[in-house]
Amino acid sequence: MDRIKKIAILGSTGSIGRQALDVIRALSARFQVVGLAGGKNLKLLEKQIAKFQPEMFYSSVEPDFTYRGEFLSMEQIASHPDVDLVIIATSSKAGLYPTLAALKAGKTVALANKEVLMMAGEIIVREAKSYQAQILPIDSELSAIWQCLQGEENKPQRIFLTASGGPFYHYSQPELRKVTVEQALHHPTWKMGRKITIDSATLLNKGAEAIEAHWLFAIPFESIEILIHPQSIIHSMVEFMDGSIKAQLSFPDMRLPIQYALCYPERLPNSELPRLNWNKIQSLNFEPVEQNRFPCLKLALDAGKQGGTYPAVLCAADEVAVGFFLNKRISFTDIARIVQETLEQHRGIAQPSLEEILIADAWAREYVERLSLCHGKACPAPEPFASCHSEGAKRPKNLAQGKLREGEGTRRSNLRSVR
Ligand SMILES: NC(=O)c1ccc[n+]([C@@H]2O[C@H](COP(=O)([O-])OP(=O)(O)OC[C@H]3O[C@@H](n4cnc5c(N)ncnc54)[C@H](OP(=O)(O)O)[C@@H]3O)[C@@H](O)[C@H]2O)c1
Repeated sequence: MDRIKKIAILGSTGSIGRQALDVIRALSARFQVVGLAGGKNLKLLEKQIAKFQPEMFYSSVEPDFTYRGEFLSMEQIASHPDVDLVIIATSSKAGLYPTLAALKAGKTVALANKEVLMMAGEIIVREAKSYQAQILPIDSELSAIWQCLQGEENKPQRIFLTASGGPFYHYSQPELRKVTVEQALHHPTWKMGRKITIDSATLLNKGAEAIEAHWLFAIPFESIEILIHPQSIIHSMVEFMDGSIKAQLSFPDMRLPIQYALCYPERLPNSELPRLNWNKIQSLNFEPVEQNRFPCLKLALDAGKQGGTYPAVLCAADEVAVGFFLNKRISFTDIARIVQETLEQHRGIAQPSLEEILIADAWAREYVERLSLCHGKACPAPEPFASCHSEGAKRPKNLAQGKLREGEGTRRSNLRSVR
């Protein structure tokens, strides 16, 4: 009989975490949940704990329930001797230290939390190598590339990341300015968490995947192409030196890449996963991406190519800006302007340490928060990155929330007065 894999899920209360638990429930003979960690959604975490009975758990706020299991930090859970595979399904930078802890303990890491590779790809890949730990991607596009590379000895010549284009791919600039939160949260083909749904609509998410692919598969950015494929059936493709192209196709459902990582190197039947019905697929379409209309994509690709602390600044600025958009403080097109301005003001550090990455992250958050206080007038100058750096790992100040008027927050003229 096959050995049962012991799984810890960090971010179990989120979209990926819940779907990972669905897969585990469907294949319960093969997996045992030994650790669960959530953030603030204690009600759901309590329910999950009651159902899966893990031996350890964590929440970012003090639990309001009692449970016989051990309350440990996410780093302790990720590196615990009882864990075979840890799913990092947290968001933002929450997964950074737990991922490093898991890798240093030689664990297999199934990674969804894309900011981990975006912010610290070089460090993460280096640590995985030195501790002989595996990183298995959960993102559907990266899983597709990984699946296409199975059994191949030669490096791919090109990879094609497919993008649905999101709900607004054919919108004009004036139409994009009027996009509402409700419209942006309605993705045409995928059901995902709120933040990644907005990143898919701005296409920043596709640039994020290019950065992830660059680190995970050691592929130069020049060999990564992005194709609009509205049906989201081909999840990505790999081209080899003889011109042959392999693609991975499936119904767009995140449970499949999650299951592939959990079961790897096996494939297991799961009757709950939907199948493609070829009678219903009339065509598979492709078109080149128009980067000019979706500046977040270019910003992400450029930040990835620049490397150093730039991708961390991209992640942080985007996270705060997307939060503003979700709270209806800025327009959809302001997200790109804010991210661009923050990147332009950043003085990057090449090959940064983890501490320098986190300082860059804190700087970018504070920078965007201060922009939001400007109201189009002069506002106190955010400290330039270099002085933040020399003062050590200072947390950003807890700034009061201002309200940006549409299109105002990142005008060049404002920023000149900001500096
Ligand atoms: N959703 C998708 O389809 C998809 C696809 C590919 C990649 N990803 C990536 O996977 C990651 C997760 O995405 P998601 O859509 O599942 O996000 P989500 O629904 O927002 O879930 C995030 C999870 O992380 C937890 N969390 C956040 N901050 C935490 C902290 N400081 N300590 C402990 N737990 C914390 C949340 O807990 P609470 O909710 O309890 O506060 C929640 O469980 C993201 O990096 C995303 O880009 C997602």
